[in-house]
Amino acid sequence: MTAQLIDGKLIANNLLEDLKKEIAKREEDGIRNPALAVILVGDDPASTVYVNNKRRACEKVGIKSLFYDLPATTTQIELEKLIDDLNNDSGVDGILVQSPLPDPLDEDRILDLISPDKDVDGFHPINLGLLAMRQPKFRSCTPYGVIKMLKAMEIEISGKDAVVVGASNHVGRPMAFELLMAGATVTQCHSKTQNIQDKVYNSDIVVAAVGRPEMVKGSWIKKGAVVIDIGINRVGDKLIGDVEFEVAKNNASFITPVPGGVGPMTVATLMSNTLDAQKNSL
Ligand code: GUN
Repeated sequence: MTAQLIDGKLIANNLLEDLKKEIAKREEDGIRNPALAVILVGDDPASTVYVNNKRRACEKVGIKSLFYDLPATTTQIELEKLIDDLNNDSGVDGILVQSPLPDPLDEDRILDLISPDKDVDGFHPINLGLLAMRQPKFRSCTPYGVIKMLKAMEIEISGKDAVVVGASNHVGRPMAFELLMAGATVTQCHSKTQNIQDKVYNSDIVVAAVGRPEMVKGSWIKKGAVVIDIGINRVGDKLIGDVEFEVAKNNASFITPVPGGVGPMTVATLMSNTLDAQKNSL
C-alpha cells in the first residue's frame, strides 16, 4: 500500500482564499484590515524564512503586517517595552514574537507579557490552559492547523488511538490537548518514554513533533495509520521530517510530506487567529 499524500499547501491555500474573501467583505463594510505585529530578533536563517512566509501570507489575505526586525543585541527591557506598547495599541490585533529568541533574552517572560487577547500564536499560559480545559480561545497554530487538516481530509479522530511523539510546551502538549478534545485516546511520548516503537505501532494516528530527522521509523507505523509529521529538520541542503517518510508511506493510509505538509497549515492558522483576534476586540 502507498499512502495518500495530505497536501497541506493546497488545504492552507483554500483557507487563505476564504480568509481573503472574508477580510475583503469586512473592508467593504468599513472595518479596517486586521493588523499583525511580527517581531524577529537577530538573524537566525530558519527564523528569517519562517517570518518571511508569515509576512507573505499576511499580504496575500489582506492582513497588515507590522515589521519589527530587531538586532540580536536588543535588550530584555527594550523588548518588554515594545510588547507593552503593542499590547496598548488598539490598531494592533495580534503580536507574534518569533521563537527562539537569541541569548540572553528570557523568552518565557516575553511570551507571558503578550496580552492573551493578542496572543495569536496561542503560546500564553492562559491560552494553553483554556485549551487544556476544553474552552479554547487562541489555539497554538501548528496543533490547530493539524486538526483543520485532518478535518479537511475527512479523517475521523473521535474514538481513535493517537500518539504524539514529543511533549514541548508549544507543539507536543497542545497537540495532545487538541486530539483529546477531538475525542481521541492520546498517548504522549517524551524523552523518558520506554518502547516508543510499541506506542506508535498501537496507534491509528501518529503525530511526530520531536525535531529529530527520521526519528520515527517507517516500520513502526501500523498498516492504515494516519501519519502527521510536524518536524522540519535541515540536513545539508534538504528539509527532512521527523518520520522516515519513504518507508512509512508504505504502511500509512495518509501521510504528510515535509515540506508542504503541516508548515503551510501553521501559517494559515496564524492568519485566521489574527482575524479572530480582531473580531474579538470589536
Ligand atoms: N518558531 C518556530 N515555529 C514558531 C511558531 O509557530 N511561532 C513562533 N512565534 N515562533 C516559532
